[in-house]
Order: sequence, then structure tokens, then C-alpha cells
Amino acid sequence: MCLQDMKLKELEGCLQQVDVFESPKLLLEQYPTRPHIAACMLYTIHNTFGDIEDKVIADLGCGCGVLSIGAAMLGAGFCIGFDIDEDALDTFRTNSEEFELSNIDLVQCDICSMAPTNLEKSVDTVIMNPPFGTKHNKGMDMKFLKTALQMARTSVYSLHKTSTREHVQKKAADWKVKMEVIAELRYDLPATYKFHKKKSVDIEVDFIRFSFD
Ligand SMILES: C[S@@+](CC[C@H](N)C(=O)[O-])C[C@H]1O[C@@H](n2cnc3c(N)ncnc32)[C@H](O)[C@@H]1O
Repeated sequence: MCLQDMKLKELEGCLQQVDVFESPKLLLEQYPTRPHIAACMLYTIHNTFGDIEDKVIADLGCGCGVLSIGAAMLGAGFCIGFDIDEDALDTFRTNSEEFELSNIDLVQCDICSMAPTNLEKSVDTVIMNPPFGTKHNKGMDMKFLKTALQMARTSVYSLHKTSTREHVQKKAADWKVKMEVIAELRYDLPATYKFHKKKSVDIEVDFIRFSFD
């Protein structure tokens, strides 16, 4: 089977094999994109927009790599994962070895202090699930988005809390980029504090495509 023609369910099945954060660091908002959501995102980016096959792709806040690994399986030319956390990148490295993917590179860095001029328009597509940036790290989602838009030549795909949609729309208009909400998702977020009664909470999240045309 040609990997680029992989079916959604097959992709999801593969992504279920990707190891996730061993000890998630809550301050870094380390919750992995679930295989089902990751597969739906990547499948749409590939099939509807043609933004994966043979493209150079950056994955900002890549964590253990589920989005990059899925993109590589769908025929990306090259994927570069960026994350601040060495432990997450170690797991990502092990995952890509297990899947025998060689077209992936990793960079340890703080997205918020990257010098964007060095990376301006250096990739075709950015795919990311950034920290939502709503508590101690307010505004982090927008810092990730700004960097992503500087890096991408064609498009940026990102997840943002639906409750912030108006704010994101305003920023997109200020930055003169086109924004399209592709899907509204229910996202299973682990409870952050010990006093939270439930193990996880469902929040509404927008899957958004930003482009320059
Ligand atoms: C919501 S998780 C997403 C992980 C992964 N992309 C996925 O989809 O499963 C956010 C990721 O952003 C990383 N991160 C948080 N702050 C960062 C920063 N300032 N610079 C780079 N990465 C950061 C975390 O370590 C974490 O891996």
C-alpha cells in the first residue's frame, strides 16, 4: 500500500502506537493530541488541501511527535519538530526510530525566544497543537501562531480554544492572513490541579487553517 493513500482508520491505528509523555509537565501544557484527532487533522490537511505530500513541514511544540510522525507517514518531504523539552524530544526520537522514519529532524528551543528572521518563510506548512496559553502562560498560543506565520510559506494549521475565536480572528485580520475554521472539536484535556474532581474535562477547540492567499 502506498502510504500517501492510507485510509483515515489506518492512520489512526498507526498513531495509536506513538508513545506519549512519560511524566507530562503541566506548566508546559504537555498533553498529547489524541490519535483520533491527530489523524483527522492530518488526513484533512493532506486530502483537502494538499499541504503535506512532498512539503517541508514544521511542528511547533512537537512534544513526542504524533503530528510530525503522521505527516511523515502521509508523504511529507521533510518534518522538523521544535520543542523546549528535552525529555519530550527523547521520546519523539525513539518514536521516529521505531517507525523507521528518517525524514524528521528535531530542534530544542523556546518558540517564544526564537529569532524569526532566521526562519522566515523557511517551511511550506506549519502544523501544531500549541499550549492554549490561558493560565500562567497567557498569550502563549498567539506567540506560537505569530512565529508559525513567519515561518510558513503556504499555510499554518493549529488548534485554539473555541472561546478565543474572536480574539484569534482579530489577530489574523491585523496580521493580514486568511483564517478558516475547518472543524470544531471536543478535546479531552487532563485536569491540571489535584483539587479538580474529574480526571479530565472536555473543552471545545477550533481546528484552524491560516493562509496567505
Ligand atoms: C499541547 S502539547 C502538544 C504536543 C504535541 N505537539 C502533540 O500534538 O501531541 C504542547 C507542547 O508545547 C511544548 N512547549 C510548551 N512551551 C514551549 C515553548 N515555550 N517553546 C517550545 N515548546 C514549548 C510542550 O513541551 C509540549 O510538548
